[in-house]
Order: sequence, then C-alpha cells, then structure tokens
Amino acid sequence: SVTSNTFDFAANLFPLSSSNEAGYAPIGAPTAAGQRHGGLGATLEKHKTLTYVNGLGLIIGIIIGSGIFSSPSQVNINVGSPGASLIVWAVAGVLAWTGAASYAELGGAIPLNGGSQAYLSKIIGELAGFLFTWVAVLVLKPGSAAIISIIMGEYLVRAFIGPDAETVNIWVNKGMGLVGLFVVTFLNCVSTKLATRINDTLMFLKFIALLAVTILGIVVAATGLSYAGDPNTEWKTKDWFEGTSTDISHWAVALYAGLWAYDGWDNTNFVVGEFRNPTRDLPRVIHTAMPAVIICYLLANMSYFLVLPLATLNSSNAVAVLFGGKIMGPIGSLVFALVVSASCFGSLNSSTFTSSRLVYAAAKEGYTPPIFGRIGFAAAEPGLQITRSQNWFAKRLQRAFGDEEAGLFFTPVYALIFNGLITAIYVIVGEFGELITFYGVAGYSFYFLTVLGLIILRVKEPSLERPYKTWITTPIIFCCVSLFLLSRAVFAQPLKTLIVIAFILIGIPVYFWRIQGRDQVMKRETAGSRSAAPGWQFWKRWF
Ligand code: ARG
Repeated sequence: SVTSNTFDFAANLFPLSSSNEAGYAPIGAPTAAGQRHGGLGATLEKHKTLTYVNGLGLIIGIIIGSGIFSSPSQVNINVGSPGASLIVWAVAGVLAWTGAASYAELGGAIPLNGGSQAYLSKIIGELAGFLFTWVAVLVLKPGSAAIISIIMGEYLVRAFIGPDAETVNIWVNKGMGLVGLFVVTFLNCVSTKLATRINDTLMFLKFIALLAVTILGIVVAATGLSYAGDPNTEWKTKDWFEGTSTDISHWAVALYAGLWAYDGWDNTNFVVGEFRNPTRDLPRVIHTAMPAVIICYLLANMSYFLVLPLATLNSSNAVAVLFGGKIMGPIGSLVFALVVSASCFGSLNSSTFTSSRLVYAAAKEGYTPPIFGRIGFAAAEPGLQITRSQNWFAKRLQRAFGDEEAGLFFTPVYALIFNGLITAIYVIVGEFGELITFYGVAGYSFYFLTVLGLIILRVKEPSLERPYKTWITTPIIFCCVSLFLLSRAVFAQPLKTLIVIAFILIGIPVYFWRIQGRDQVMKRETAGSRSAAPGWQFWKRWF
C-alpha cells in the first residue's frame, strides 16, 4: 500500500504514457502517437495553460446560457407568486453553490481531468466512473447541448421573424439549432484557442446583458413607466407572496427549472488538470463565479417582475424578448433575441469544449474506441502530416487568430464529431420538456453520488491532503436536497426514472466488455520490460 497521503500527481497523470501507442492511458495522459504529431496530448495537458480568468470564462460561459432568459416562467407558474419565485432562484443558486464547493474540494484532492469520472473511479470504483462516463457521453452532455441548441434556434427565428415566431414550424427552430451546432463543432475543430476566446468574449456579453436587464428594470421601476395604463401590474403594489403554492411537488418542479439555469457548475472540474495552479484557482473560480451568477440572476428576475405584468411573464418562455419589447419596442425585442442567441451560442461552445474533452479522456481510458482519443486528421494517419507551409488556409487562420495551431485541426476532432452527431440526433428526435426531465434525473443522480463520494473519502482517507476543504455541512446539504429532488422525480415520473435506470444498467455489460480488452493490453505491457511504469502500482490499488 502507498505510504504517502498526497495524491501522486505525476504518476497518476502520465503513468503509461511512455509505453503506450494504443491510447490506453489514464485521463489526460498524452499518447506517444499524439506527441509525435504535436497534438493536444502533447500541448494541452503538459503545458498547463488555464488561468483563473479562463476558468471563470469556462464556468460562467456554460452556466449563463438559456435558462435565465427563458425559464423564469416555469418557476413562476409552479410556485405561484413573485416572492416565492425569488426564493426558488436563491435556493437553487445556493444549492448549485454547495455542489460546486464540494466539487472544488474533490478537484483539489484528486487533481485530474474528467470531473466525476475521475472522482467516482477513485472513490467508489472504476465501474462507477465508467457508468458516469457512459451516461455523460451518451446522454447528459449531448442532451443538454441539444436543449441549448433548440433554444438558440428558437431565439434566432424570433430575431428574424419577429412576433410571428410562435407560429413557425418546429422544424425551422430545430434546423437553426442544427446550423448553430454545426458551426460550434467546426470552430472547436479548427482551433482550441479560438474556442476559448469565443468563450471569454461571450462571457462579458452575457454579464453586460444581465446588467442591462437590471439597470433597465430599476429605471422602469423608479420612473413608474411600466405601471402606466397597465391593469395587470396592480399586484406590484400588493403582497409579493400572494398566490404562493403550498404543493411541495410544484416547488420541486420549480427548483428543477431554476437548477437548469445554474447548471454547468461542474464544468471547470473537467479540465482541472490543465490549470496552471489548480489547487489555488479552482476554489477561487468557484467562489467567484457562483455568487456572481446568483446575484445576477436574482437582479434579473426582479427586473422582469418590475417591468412585465405577471400574466405576460408566465405565458411565455421568451421572457427576455418580451422584456426588450416592453422597454424599447420591436428593436428591443430584436436586440434581446440576438443577445439570447449569442448567450446560447456561448454556452453551447463551452459545453462542446468540455464534452469533447470527456469523450477524448474516455478513449484514453479504453472506454471508447481509441480513435476518439486522437488529435486532428493528420494524427489519425501516422506519416501524414500537414505542414504549415503547405496549407494556405491554415496559414491565414493562424495569422488571424494568433494561434499557431489554427487550421491544422490539432484538436480532438473525432471526439468533437462524435459529440456533434449524438447531439444532432437529440435535437432531431428530442422534445424539449422530455429532455429537461431526463437530464435532471440522470444528472442529479450522478451529482448526488459524487458529492456522497466526498463524504466517503473523508471517512476512508481522513488524512489525504486536501488543499481546499469545505465545511462538512456543504456536501450534506447538497446530498439531502438532491435526494429530495430525485425522490420527487421518481414519484412524479416513474416511467422516465425507469428508463434512466435501465440505461445506466446497460452500461454494466459494456463496461466489462471494454475493460477486458483494455486490461489484456495492459497486462501484456506491464509483463514486459517497461513494467516499471511508476503509476501502475498506484492505479492497481484503486481498482
Ligand atoms: N445553465 C445553462 C443554461 O441556462 C445550461 C447548462 C447546461 N449544462 C451543461 N452541462 N451543458 O442554459
């Protein structure tokens, strides 16, 4: 057994990289093939590039997407009053924050790429980590990306068609969503730097948009503009809690809707291994991003209530467009439709970025075919290299973006295409409401399990070095509330829950099938002269 209490970072990050051609190496480890072709495996993970600000861009970029601009009506309708809605938004925010804080501790204790995949593998066993990957790669990631694509399509249609958009055929919306998905996937294939830069830029746009909503709302409220001649606004002078629902299941549904808007808080954990200073920056990123988002969301909701009549607010899932229209007429609607599309685009972009890394990491683990762990088209065929001087297009891109790898497709291209295709299938066959419930149930099962893992790890390895430690109440609160949410879903939607469980169970035989092949390769390798690969002994301890 291992004597040191610290997680052996180097040994775990690159245990098999010296001997391995096939791509079966733990998360984040560059393969020899990847290195030879100058791929991401060589550049991204070894050169730790992510800074505090990049981390903020990643997490806020994904969190502020569609939810705050569209789901307020879902929250209102279910809890019945503005005051209760604000409470739901606050509770959902704090819940997401406790989850994120728990993940910050896990990310510090086990500083590997892959998020829940790494934590569950280490704490509960590799099967648990695999099942997370199975569900995340096939359902959670593409499912949530599909929801965002569909909403982006809706808002683009609104921007172009205006008030008649409600009557437009659903396939127009979906078509627009697919175009957006294609563009995002393509950009991510072209250049990693380009993708992160889009993230950072759109993050500022989102903050500006939410700030604008807040300021406009305050101005309107202060000048009493919205009250003029609008009988529906009478309630604003009355009790903010009038009409509050007492049905607990309504509150649960509202909470799910709120949590969707905060979802994505685990995003930075997928790329912990790429941070320059993960133990310092991960908690900092989380404790800056979460309160900032919570405050923004509460203020934006206040503004919606101050500007729009409750009935109007509740009847639409394009609250932001109505808000813009109310304040600035058709131009306001257009501006907000474009802003929300851009916000969704950014969220889709961050989501695509991390999803492809997860698929890529899964291939390195031997879970998916090795091709998904390859970098770029050139690296797929050893011997074929795109040289910079040969490629006119690439050269232009490199100059335009100041990125020496742009246009060379030294990105996880196959993982990106795979992720894009699965997402497209969900966009085509999925129905928005269905997707959201399925996402909520499957997603929170794994959030719950991972945070429970934190508690288990505290008991199992009390002296493991934890650069950041939350109060023990944090994971406990998170576990209790998510268990409550899950139990509500089980009762309200037994069939869907069964489908989720069945899908998770199908992953078990797949695991044994994938893992057998991988372990044979490993056995052959460790039997050879290179068995000294330092990390291997350590890995064995965990499996
Ligand atoms: N919070 C985002 C929104 O409001 C959704 C994030 C989806 N989650 C994810 N991991 N992709 O649209």
